[in-house]
Amino acid sequence: MKKEYSCKVISKKMLNSDTAYLTIKCPDIASSAVPGQFVNISCSRFLKRPFGIASVDKVNGTFDIGVKVVGKGTVEIAAFEEGQDVEVLGPLGNGFTFDSSKNYILVAGGTGVFPINFASQYLRENNINFKVVEGFRNASQVVLNEPDYVLCTDAGDIGIKGTCIAGLDTLDENFVKDSVLCCVGPLPMMKACGNWATEKGIPSFVSMEQRMGCGIGICLVCVCKLKAEANGEEFKHVRCCKEGPVFPFEEVIF
Ligand SMILES: Cc1cc2nc3c(=O)[nH]c(=O)nc-3n(C[C@H](O)[C@H](O)[C@H](O)COP(=O)(O)OP(=O)(O)OC[C@H]3O[C@@H](n4cnc5c(N)ncnc54)[C@H](O)[C@@H]3O)c2cc1C
Ligand code: FES
Repeated sequence: MKKEYSCKVISKKMLNSDTAYLTIKCPDIASSAVPGQFVNISCSRFLKRPFGIASVDKVNGTFDIGVKVVGKGTVEIAAFEEGQDVEVLGPLGNGFTFDSSKNYILVAGGTGVFPINFASQYLRENNINFKVVEGFRNASQVVLNEPDYVLCTDAGDIGIKGTCIAGLDTLDENFVKDSVLCCVGPLPMMKACGNWATEKGIPSFVSMEQRMGCGIGICLVCVCKLKAEANGEEFKHVRCCKEGPVFPFEEVIF
């Protein structure tokens, strides 16, 4: 299946001072992507940059990405305007799988809010029960928040003061016990959320957004360690772009 596409930016809006939200036309990606997968986006710099797919519109053949400016590549991509031509590789990696007999707890930290937004879109469209817990540094960083989401900020200037764990602790135990937790965010946050799920006796999955080079399994820039199952090895290396980025929490060595 063709994976590299010449596309156009259909619309762009700024979610806050340093985060852009782009809608890109690509019917193939819109129809085939699953939550947790990502795309590689071209800019004038060497190597494309990876972004989680934030939602898809199968009718109009578009998908969205959120881009937080952190360096030269994201400065450029966040400045794209409507009509911009862009080379896109995707959808890449393995995303989340959902079981309609379970509840889902989606936890997003920082830019993890974008792939989690696609997961919530999927669960809503498939009538699967879910709750969303979002964590940001402070009110100015809050994006893609909905009134029924549990919002936490480190600064406490909006929502619950504290990490996502403080938000997770507000969830109803009866909902939690039949749930699967899916988390995207910084490593310490995913580790804490995975441990929280383990304490509750529920499965959890994390998305390992390692630094990437090629995004397609060739360069080995993105490897992380998983517990090994066989051969007496303690761990094995896996490529987050190819075997991941989503892995069962209990297999990841943080
Ligand atoms: C699978 C995946 C999905 C992602 N999804 C999103 C998304 O939806 N929205 C979004 O805004 N960003 C996302 N990112 C991060 C984004 O790809 C990086 O911020 C971007 O590549 C940085 O490019 P740059 O040229 O601006 O910065 P660089 O000049 O390359 O780096 C600037 C700073 O950003 C840090 N950085 C670079 N890449 C990463 C990374 N992967 N994780 C953490 N820190 C990094 C560097 O260490 C450095 O401190 C994702 C990353 C991965 C691997
Ligand atoms: S980014 Fe090159 S192997 Fe994963």
